[in-house]
Amino acid sequence: MSAAQPPPGRQEVFPAALSKSDIEDAYARWAPVYDFAFAAVMRPGRTAAAAAINRLGGRVLDVGVGTGLELPMFDAGVRLVGIDLSEPMLRRAQARVATAGLDHVVSLAVMDAMKLGFRDGAFDAAIAPYVLTVVPDPESVLDEIARVVRPGGEIVLVNHIGAERGLRAMIEAWLGKRSAALGWRPEFPWAILDRWLARRPDITLLERRNLAPFGLFTLIRLRCAASSAEPQKAAGKADPTGIAEEAPKPAALLDLPRAPTTAASACPLPAREKAGERTNGAWRCRCPRLVC
Ligand SMILES: C[S@@+](CC[C@H](N)C(=O)[O-])C[C@H]1O[C@@H](n2cnc3c(N)ncnc32)[C@H](O)[C@@H]1O
Repeated sequence: MSAAQPPPGRQEVFPAALSKSDIEDAYARWAPVYDFAFAAVMRPGRTAAAAAINRLGGRVLDVGVGTGLELPMFDAGVRLVGIDLSEPMLRRAQARVATAGLDHVVSLAVMDAMKLGFRDGAFDAAIAPYVLTVVPDPESVLDEIARVVRPGGEIVLVNHIGAERGLRAMIEAWLGKRSAALGWRPEFPWAILDRWLARRPDITLLERRNLAPFGLFTLIRLRCAASSAEPQKAAGKADPTGIAEEAPKPAALLDLPRAPTTAASACPLPAREKAGERTNGAWRCRCPRLVC
């Protein structure tokens, strides 16, 4: 078991901590059959989350992108970086990008959501479908996601929120004892998000909406407080992926089927097109790099 356990104060609402190795083992097992098992049932959540992101556009981080089932749902105006702890899951996302020619996917990397290798404010938005129920410490992951989203940017989550009482609560409690084998916690309580929001006055809950099937999943939209400074575009580094050399190990970039943009190469757009466009007050270049 790894040391990735929630701090003591967090355990009363989240008793069944999953370790990193539980998750890696579980998703290595799930990877070959994941799409067959979960493409359909969780599609409404992915569709709703992708629609929320498509309204924003810009540089988007997909946390726990898995096999990339949501990747074809994003518009061309989204430039997406996907990360996941599980290389077997991510390899399937890589194959999907190649097969479907998903040019809006800028990079995929093996990376721990609890220690993201990106600069503060590197993204205009982040999406994390069906991930908070999986990670050892959801509050730390939320802190990390909020750190890498620029002031005024949005965070879009989709999650199963556990029932508080009744038959479903009993079934979830029973399944919860099998979390390590399943690779997620069926009994994830809203109290975790409530507590995180209570300690993060800079984050506003924009929307909480139950989704099909049977309200089993919930779409959650959050906004990071805008800074008092001028509207800013997401900060980038010379590295177009934003994955800097200080990225935590293991953080491995997977090859995508296109010529990589090197740090030294210039923005390919002529100056008149670089005028770009405004998204929620933030300027962004239309070229596929993440640094302009
Ligand atoms: C239930 S799957 C969701 C995948 C995808 N978002 C979807 O909608 O199908 C959860 C994903 O989160 C990943 N994950 C779990 N813990 C993680 C962590 N600490 N950092 C990054 N990814 C993680 C798992 O490997 C898995 O691919």
